[in-house]
Amino acid sequence: MAGESDIRTGIYVGGRWLAGHSGRSFESFNPADRDEALGTLASGDAADVEAAVQASKAAYPAWAATPVPRRADHILRVGLGLERRKEELARLMTREMGKTLRETRADIQEAIDFAFYMAGEGRRFFGQTMPSELPGKFSMTLRAPIGVVGAITPWNFPIAIPMWKLAPALLAGNTVVFKPPTDTALCAVELVAEFIETGLPDGVLNLVTGSGAEAGEALVNHPDVRAISFTGSLDVGRHIATQCAQAMKRVSLELGGKNCLIVMPDADMELAVEAAAWGAFATAGQRCTATSRILVHEKVKAAFTERLLARVARMKAGDGLDPDVEIAPVINEAQCVTVLDYIEIGKAEGARLLTGGTRLTEGGLEKGSFIAPTVFDAVSPTMRIAQEEIFGPVTALIDFADLDEAIAIANGTNYGLSASIYTRDITATFEAISRLEFGVVYVNAPTIGAEVQLPFGGTKCTGNGHREAGPQALDEFTEWKAVSVDFSGRLQRAQMDEE
Ligand code: UN1
Repeated sequence: MAGESDIRTGIYVGGRWLAGHSGRSFESFNPADRDEALGTLASGDAADVEAAVQASKAAYPAWAATPVPRRADHILRVGLGLERRKEELARLMTREMGKTLRETRADIQEAIDFAFYMAGEGRRFFGQTMPSELPGKFSMTLRAPIGVVGAITPWNFPIAIPMWKLAPALLAGNTVVFKPPTDTALCAVELVAEFIETGLPDGVLNLVTGSGAEAGEALVNHPDVRAISFTGSLDVGRHIATQCAQAMKRVSLELGGKNCLIVMPDADMELAVEAAAWGAFATAGQRCTATSRILVHEKVKAAFTERLLARVARMKAGDGLDPDVEIAPVINEAQCVTVLDYIEIGKAEGARLLTGGTRLTEGGLEKGSFIAPTVFDAVSPTMRIAQEEIFGPVTALIDFADLDEAIAIANGTNYGLSASIYTRDITATFEAISRLEFGVVYVNAPTIGAEVQLPFGGTKCTGNGHREAGPQALDEFTEWKAVSVDFSGRLQRAQMDEE
């Protein structure tokens, strides 16, 4: 077993920080300045995951038996702790993940909001009562925890998305092994530290930093882990789903999108342009909800495009701690290469590059992973840049002639997370609401910016039918138990005609 440590190593098991079994480690860097190393963390391996799962298993019976409102108290206090440390943690997150300070404050605010929301669920946690067909028989449903849950999270929302998983999982009485991404492992350590501060019993929440290939894989395949909640890429999600299918393990997946914003001819053009620029380029396009397709009615296409380009030209790239910066770095060099590859694919497919398309290497930006905000025009709906998730500051303009065509293009990808329509026409509004095959639909609001009290998730390859956040969050982490109490004093047989 690995030795105990008095520093926050990244591996927190059974109430103690451990050095990590393999002795290997990795560094966390600032994507705006790769020379800035922020900290060193342990590379967790299968042995660390084994220890974490055993600690979770040991802690489970007592935690599952703790009254829900008492469990909720911990969630509430995590929200209060994050509120106190919001500015400090936002600055850390900007340095570790890159997005601007306004956005990292919002990330932490989203976690705070959700903690408060879920803490309230602790006083509800409702089941139902149902009538019985038999006299002297009482029926009800109860939510039950699942057991040990594995939470595997992405780097784009380093604190908010873990909170979407940890808060409902723990509230429901599960114990958790949390595997964050290496790119934002320090933020994960700080979040876990806030849970520890609340006096959570040892083993209820365990953390294993490390790679997906090693720590993530071991967690997904551990026979004592009863459910996996994963947010990340489609390829990894498909792999995890396959592993979990073999083990008959509960799995919930949130796998990204090819989101679109539809601009109708009667739209408020200024608003639509602002929404497109914000949706496409906030977080450098690294949101599952990013506006990666802008569908513009042919009548207003020229005017819209001109305004969008003028807006994009005013966007400053740089370190997210600079309040004037709007374009943050992409998370790492590998992601930079992926995004630049997509830009080449777009050009080769015949799309017209209107602006951007290159790495930014002037004025200090050469130390980080920056890509200019990129807009393609003349994109046909079947091109790869109109079909595949890019996860970078790249968006595609697509023309349409009428609403039917816009909806067909919008629905014509394998994803279905977020769609938006800008219009003042009530018929177009409700047609779009009813016909867009997306989990999240906005009218006159951008594709990004989901609020925590609404269910979040999507159709088709965006996921496997689960929703995070909202009241639905509890469904991800509970089993329904149907309970019947017969107080008639007789053997009663259901579905039998009276004899
Ligand atoms: C994600 O990118 O996975 O709606 C989540 C939004 C955020 C959540 C995005 N509140 O953009």
